[in-house]
Amino acid sequence: MSSNTSIDFHSKGFATTLRKDKWWLYPGIVVFGLTGFLVYGFWSAWQADFYWYSAGQEGFGGYLAPFYSPLLFIKEGVAGAAPMEHSLFGPWPEWWPQWLPPSPSLLILAIPGIFRFTCYYYRKAYYRAFTGTPPACAVGALPRKRKSGYKGETGLMLFQNAHRITMYFAMIYIVVFFYDAYLSFFRGGEFGVGVGSILLLGNPILLALYTLGCHSIRHLVGGSRDCYSCSMIGNASHETGKASGWLNRRHELFAWLSLIWIMIADFYVRMVSMGYITDLNTWG
Ligand code: FES
Repeated sequence: MSSNTSIDFHSKGFATTLRKDKWWLYPGIVVFGLTGFLVYGFWSAWQADFYWYSAGQEGFGGYLAPFYSPLLFIKEGVAGAAPMEHSLFGPWPEWWPQWLPPSPSLLILAIPGIFRFTCYYYRKAYYRAFTGTPPACAVGALPRKRKSGYKGETGLMLFQNAHRITMYFAMIYIVVFFYDAYLSFFRGGEFGVGVGSILLLGNPILLALYTLGCHSIRHLVGGSRDCYSCSMIGNASHETGKASGWLNRRHELFAWLSLIWIMIADFYVRMVSMGYITDLNTWG
């Protein structure tokens, strides 16, 4: 009887449900949060300026906006640009198309973007929120043609397998962001602490907590073994797998915290660089 009720209910159409709770709240928050992040991310990347702040001081130290890190190339003469010695490959390349702003961010956003886009947690969240397939458990999905040839993640979404590759690059970004955090505790070569330093330190910490709980990393460090207790490596693998599993159970939490934090840190550096916010710090 109950299974018949279920079948009847599913055939009634999008968003129909017997649920009495606020099931729409979660997909609503996901739409709002991810859209906000995408809009801010593209806007910030497109600006190409005011991504660096060192209070006009030369020497070691300064704040680098996370959306612009690492700096592969730097365009000289741009307001709020980092000094040339922070560029990995030197001045801005000639081959860059004229119709695109000379933004270091546009060069490096793709990899972390793909990593997030293909994350198992985010997939669940945006499949539900943006494609309504279905929007929540026991809620009617968006209708689709019966013979549409939908192949799920074996068709168009084969692309999602890029996750296990971009995961390695994401690890590199964590190291880079920790270096940026270290840099932010210096100004003109002098050690100190500012609000920007705290924000730029929180960024790689949260990113590490998010990334190390990745399903692919959990498999890498704790999976593919027949016997944990048969060797020292097996024991170590068991421990790292347990740690990654602990983070994995909180993956959603760290996915959102790291997403929001990096946006706030980026915005903060930009506002300080533009002079709209005064950075509280110990340098005076
Ligand atoms: S599953 Fe989310 S980062 Fe890999």
